[in-house]
Amino acid sequence: MNQHKKFHLKTFGCQMNVHDSEVLAGFLEGLGYQEVDDVKETDIVIMNTCAIRQKAEEKVVGMIGKLKKLKRENPSLIIGICGCMVQQEKTAEMIKSRFPYVDLIFGTHNLHRFSELLTEAQESRETILDIWPEGKEVVEGLPISRKDGIKAWVNITYGCNNFCSYCVVPYVRGREKSREIVNIMMEVEGLAKEGYKEVTLLGQNVNSYGKDLGQGVSFALLLEKMGNIQGLERIRYMTSHPRDFNRELIEVISRSQKVCEHFHLPIQSGSSKILDKMNRGYTREHYLKVVADIQKMIPNSSITTDFIVGFPGETEEDFLDTLEIVEKVRFDASFTFIYSVRKGTKAADMPNQIPEEVKKERLYRLNEIQNRISREIHEVLKGSIVNVLVEGFSRENDSYLTGRTRTNKLVNFTGNKEIVGKIIPVKITEAKTWSLDGEMVQETVRKR
Ligand code: 5AD
Ligand code: SF4
Repeated sequence: MNQHKKFHLKTFGCQMNVHDSEVLAGFLEGLGYQEVDDVKETDIVIMNTCAIRQKAEEKVVGMIGKLKKLKRENPSLIIGICGCMVQQEKTAEMIKSRFPYVDLIFGTHNLHRFSELLTEAQESRETILDIWPEGKEVVEGLPISRKDGIKAWVNITYGCNNFCSYCVVPYVRGREKSREIVNIMMEVEGLAKEGYKEVTLLGQNVNSYGKDLGQGVSFALLLEKMGNIQGLERIRYMTSHPRDFNRELIEVISRSQKVCEHFHLPIQSGSSKILDKMNRGYTREHYLKVVADIQKMIPNSSITTDFIVGFPGETEEDFLDTLEIVEKVRFDASFTFIYSVRKGTKAADMPNQIPEEVKKERLYRLNEIQNRISREIHEVLKGSIVNVLVEGFSRENDSYLTGRTRTNKLVNFTGNKEIVGKIIPVKITEAKTWSLDGEMVQETVRKR
């Protein structure tokens, strides 16, 4: 019989949260717990929540409601809620009073105290609620439970100073704080030694890395230094801010053998008027110039983006500017969102909020165009040979292996498990909107 106590972790939202959950899992495994998929089998359930859009919050509230039955059946079950959602004003209190069977509520700034908080929750009959309004300093040396041994997330900054007018992140993740460059380098060197092939550097705005440290370090410098790490094959990063994406950085990336030729540059809108209202700090022309520089200096790069449709005051004309920029840039893919009102942000109080039906209709039109373009770009790749870092078996069909190109395209192909974790050449045989099918070949291709 398995003597281990068990935990179940449910993560909502972005990569930052996914990585925070690796820290929570690290703590729990250190305490002797084992992760399980089935919530019915567990001793601890933790929900790491997201606040970026209303829908994400509704999902969490629905799921907490469902846990009531489990708690009744197993009163010693510990239920913990953490992450961005509870970091918002009054939300933690709302959860505590509406769902009194929740044992522990903690925020984004005190993750490092998780072990102590868990013990308190296990010993108390009351809900333990601990939310810090702001992070103190960056805490190093947290346990991280990484699963695949191939790709790793690595934090470089926490928080955001940008205050885009629609966005809740600066309120729930606090002000920008960079990790010391030596600590980041040490972590990545350690990962490379363990056999990791790829890292993704994480920050709300990676381009401002180092500004708060006052040591003359920058994101470009970090990428340059990281390029020398033996064994590491690929470096990715997210998320970039188009305002801060300068030529120096593009040059560093173009010289690097390891930084991938994929640029995720969230544009949000194609209208300079809306970008100004969003407080994005760049115009449509600036964005197009950054894209032109990338395309000139690093040909065959992929460019992906995020869009918000239906921002307050967005007219049909503004929206047509968005559609036009999609055709102009020909993004490889776009993550498209309907504007969601976030309490406490500037845009929440702006006039001319857009009706839901109009937002939905705009999203549909945008997706139609983007999907066509993604498919067209993929069609051109048919017959070509690409280098794929093999990640494992495909989730949909386990007779297929799956991996990504340097340009971050998902490729499914047949092969054996010995090649998992290796970079191998694959010939593209089929194009789909969101992925490519291929077959392993013997030829080698250029490093890129
Ligand atoms: N409504 C809709 N989408 C949003 N995003 C951020 N805030 C909101 C909001 N209030 C989107 C942006 C961002 C992505 C992570 O989420 O496009 O780039
Ligand atoms: Fe939000 Fe803007 Fe910061 Fe991104 S840069 S996290 S959109 S405030």
